[in-house]
Amino acid sequence: MDSSPVSPAVADIRASVAHDAERASFTTFEESTAADWSVIASQLPVTQAIAAANIIEQLRMLERDHGGFPVTRLEHSLQTATMAEEDGRDAEYVLCALLHDIGDTLAPYNHPDIAAGILKPFVSPANHWMVQHHGIFQGYYFWHHIGLNRDARENFRGHEFFEYTEEFCAKYDQAAFDPEYVSAPLEHFEPLIRQFFVPESTTETYNALR
Ligand SMILES: [Fe+2]
Ligand SMILES: [Fe+2]
Repeated sequence: MDSSPVSPAVADIRASVAHDAERASFTTFEESTAADWSVIASQLPVTQAIAAANIIEQLRMLERDHGGFPVTRLEHSLQTATMAEEDGRDAEYVLCALLHDIGDTLAPYNHPDIAAGILKPFVSPANHWMVQHHGIFQGYYFWHHIGLNRDARENFRGHEFFEYTEEFCAKYDQAAFDPEYVSAPLEHFEPLIRQFFVPESTTETYNALR
């Protein structure tokens, strides 16, 4: 089990929730009441605030692994996001660029699904599709070196988001492995993460817990 300490902000949130939050009283779902579910529903914004903090922690943990690539997985993520930002992309796109590989060390065989799942409620269908399919589109640049079909993405040719996803890989994802590139630090993107993952209604609760 990983024994790395979590950030003080995350620890504070977890402690507050654990000690202060009202709880439902059932021991099985079968005996639960509407009142119980009202209590639980009221906690969802708090959980979402914790999710934002956990996303930042998970990105930070990408620094532990380089997977044989020239830069760490965190640096690749920062580089992809920085390049998108410097290219004038909007905040949502930059967020997707930053998170697209957050699942690399959680689900190496299907990592795009992790990012796509996290982002889905908060981003446009185009950005969600782009993140979900970036793996097969990125394959164009290297799958022929590992015995796979680099043109597998052609199965999606004609899809409304094909060119959009193709562009993401061409301009940013496949180009973000330069050890000499100076990326913005993770701290630069933390407000962006909180902006998207902590809805306005939750901000007060979140700040009170920090
Ligand atoms: Fe990826
Ligand atoms: Fe990537």
